[in-house]
Amino acid sequence: MQMHLADSSSTLEYGDIFLERGRQYHSAMARFPRARDREFSQLFSRFPLGEGENIVDVPSGGGYLSDFLAREKGHKSIRVTELEFSPGFSGQSQVVEPYGAWPLRLESADRIISLASSHHIADLDRLLNNFGVYVRPGGLVHIADVSPDGGIASFLDVFVDRHTTTGHRGIYRQFERLEWPDWLDVIRIETRSCPWRFDSSEQLVAFCHGLFGLGKDAWPHLESTLEELVGIRSANGGVELDWELSYMDAMKV
Ligand SMILES: C[S@@+](CC[C@H](N)C(=O)[O-])C[C@H]1O[C@@H](n2cnc3c(N)ncnc32)[C@H](O)[C@@H]1O
Repeated sequence: MQMHLADSSSTLEYGDIFLERGRQYHSAMARFPRARDREFSQLFSRFPLGEGENIVDVPSGGGYLSDFLAREKGHKSIRVTELEFSPGFSGQSQVVEPYGAWPLRLESADRIISLASSHHIADLDRLLNNFGVYVRPGGLVHIADVSPDGGIASFLDVFVDRHTTTGHRGIYRQFERLEWPDWLDVIRIETRSCPWRFDSSEQLVAFCHGLFGLGKDAWPHLESTLEELVGIRSANGGVELDWELSYMDAMKV
């Protein structure tokens, strides 16, 4: 079993965690770039993309949403600004402070998107304040993340926590119970299924091992733990991990 850096005298900040884990996360995404396509497409399931939209993806990791849109957007001339809070991913995204000023024009974004990240944000209100500064009136905000109930949060905070040097402790929020800021008209909050797709269970295990930065000691238990806590099924000639997220769609009033 690996030693947790978080068990030592200093507690790691998330910036440190992704400094250490970002490279592995990025390699897994580079090796299986389409595995999470459904997670990205679900962001737009209620409000499809329009022509020429100006999107901000924050924090963007290594720019995976942008890569997805480049594959999917067809003729739409969409611009994606990628902002990231940790330099540990790929260098593709500009690194900014979560609660500081960002290199954007005020009220210039048609949408701000934050995927799989709010559980790393200690002060969501302050981050949302920033969203309010940079999204235009009538523009959209999408936040999607793991919900507190269920096997995915357990997988992250028990299994990933145990098998990573950094540990994993997320702040999972019940979006339905949050007090959202007045400027934000929350239009819909719902759980959306977004299975991660692979050709084989070997690929599925390799992806999860890298994405979550797991140690060697995790290998023998990873597939059975995912089966138990998340769910794995055969589908369309491949294998799917039953990932799901809570998606919040809102508009700046
Ligand atoms: C699981 S990754 C998600 C990245 C990307 N949106 C995706 O869907 O692949 C989690 C993100 O949280 C970021 N993060 C959140 N809060 C942070 C903080 N306070 N300091 C550094 N990074 C933070 C990480 O840098 C990383 O981009």
